[in-house]
Amino acid sequence: MNDHIKQLGERIESRSAVVGVIGLGYVGLPLASALHSGGVRVIGFDVDPAKIKALNEGTNYLSHLGHDMVKELAESDRFDVTTDFVRLREADAVLVCVPTPLKGNREPDLSYVVTTGRDIGMALRPGQLIVLESTTYPGTTRREFLDAIYEGAKAVGTTLESGEDFLVAFSPEREDPGRKSHATATIPKLVGGLDETATDLAAKLYRIGIKEIVPVSLAEVAEAAKILENVYRAVNIALVNEMKVILSDMGIDVFEVIRAAATKPFGFQAFWPGPGLGGHCIPIDPYYLAWRAKEIGHDAKFIELAGEINHAMPAYVVEKTARALEERSLAAKRAGVLVLGLAYKPDVDDVRESPSFELIELLRERVARVDYSDPHIGATWKMRHYDLGLTSVEITPETLASYDAVVISTNHSAFDYEMIAEHSKLVVDTRDAMRLYAPKMGDRLVRA
Ligand SMILES: NC(=O)c1ccc[n+]([C@@H]2O[C@H](COP(=O)([O-])OP(=O)(O)OC[C@H]3O[C@@H](n4cnc5c(N)ncnc54)[C@H](O)[C@@H]3O)[C@@H](O)[C@H]2O)c1
Repeated sequence: MNDHIKQLGERIESRSAVVGVIGLGYVGLPLASALHSGGVRVIGFDVDPAKIKALNEGTNYLSHLGHDMVKELAESDRFDVTTDFVRLREADAVLVCVPTPLKGNREPDLSYVVTTGRDIGMALRPGQLIVLESTTYPGTTRREFLDAIYEGAKAVGTTLESGEDFLVAFSPEREDPGRKSHATATIPKLVGGLDETATDLAAKLYRIGIKEIVPVSLAEVAEAAKILENVYRAVNIALVNEMKVILSDMGIDVFEVIRAAATKPFGFQAFWPGPGLGGHCIPIDPYYLAWRAKEIGHDAKFIELAGEINHAMPAYVVEKTARALEERSLAAKRAGVLVLGLAYKPDVDDVRESPSFELIELLRERVARVDYSDPHIGATWKMRHYDLGLTSVEITPETLASYDAVVISTNHSAFDYEMIAEHSKLVVDTRDAMRLYAPKMGDRLVRA
């Protein structure tokens, strides 16, 4: 072990290490806060000047994190933020939390990871620990990410070796925004280095702000474990969505069935059907593995099938809604429909990959008018795929009664379900939100 790496270890042990966090979004910001709370100095990096300005002013842009976290960071003399990536040289450890989306053809888009790798390479100095956190397929850290670091270093005439002069590891983020039971500091963190020293020092670094660290033998194991977690969810959600479609035609309530099955104390974990998949992870990450599997000659059949079933859910809900309207002798094409919930899950304002958008677009092809109500999202904006141009409708007895159907896409706890039950002409419930009111609603309630 050379002196630079030895010193890095000592700086981590003594908490005098400086930590750089690149990408201050849903993952990077709470991570920066957790490590800052552990006592180290943290520098946040982002390409978005609006985020840097907000953090300097102590303004929170991710509401689920609460205002106190950002205020505490803004007031601390151990935290600062910048768009100047030359300052990466100041950091002993650099943690990378940039997006890993899909391209239009569902292929991995590693451009953010590669650009960031190059930025790191251009500022690289001996004795740095670089950790990729962005979800990706196994092998990315060792190939694409490390290559990008070398490329950046070469561009500025730096010749340093991974494992000798600097260390590289992968540690997946398991953040679940909005979940009250766990936060960054209490979710066990997997760490796998490109070599043993990298694993060891990365584990020590994360222990500063995170309770439980789980070292694994290789970066590839950590990368694959994260993808397995998300494939497991995608596949199980597809399974219950398929069960929903089948059981519905048998006149059986899938939610009651799942609750019944979940009384078995072992061997069964409950997953819940819904209007489709949402969020940054589950609809995207499995395709990273599927793509890589194809590259080495395998079809990831479970992933493809789960994707197919989950992606078909918005159309299923729309079909059920149209049918329910027709059964009430209402021509669907003259109907007004109110969609409740635009966020992809309850009680957050996160709309990434939310199935509500597709639901609204598909409904627009079938009915006369579609509006939405979401207490967390006042109006829609132009996005990559959607530009709905809608403003949230306030739920009152009068507004509810003015629509021919109300479709519950997201079961926010702020919705007044009793009022919805009482004043809606027809409720199409994709989330089992109306269970309590089912007896009194009779055939005004349809499950989809
Ligand atoms: N959101 C989640 O719940 C979650 C959970 C687990 C894992 N992840 C993974 O973590 C990674 C980050 O996701 P996120 O949800 O935090 O994304 P995000 O979009 O909320 O944040 C990413 C941040 O990176 C910044 N950024 C983009 N390009 C950059 C660059 N070249 N240099 C510096 N900053 C740059 C963006 O401005 C943004 O602030 C992804 O790989 C994602 O799959 C996300």
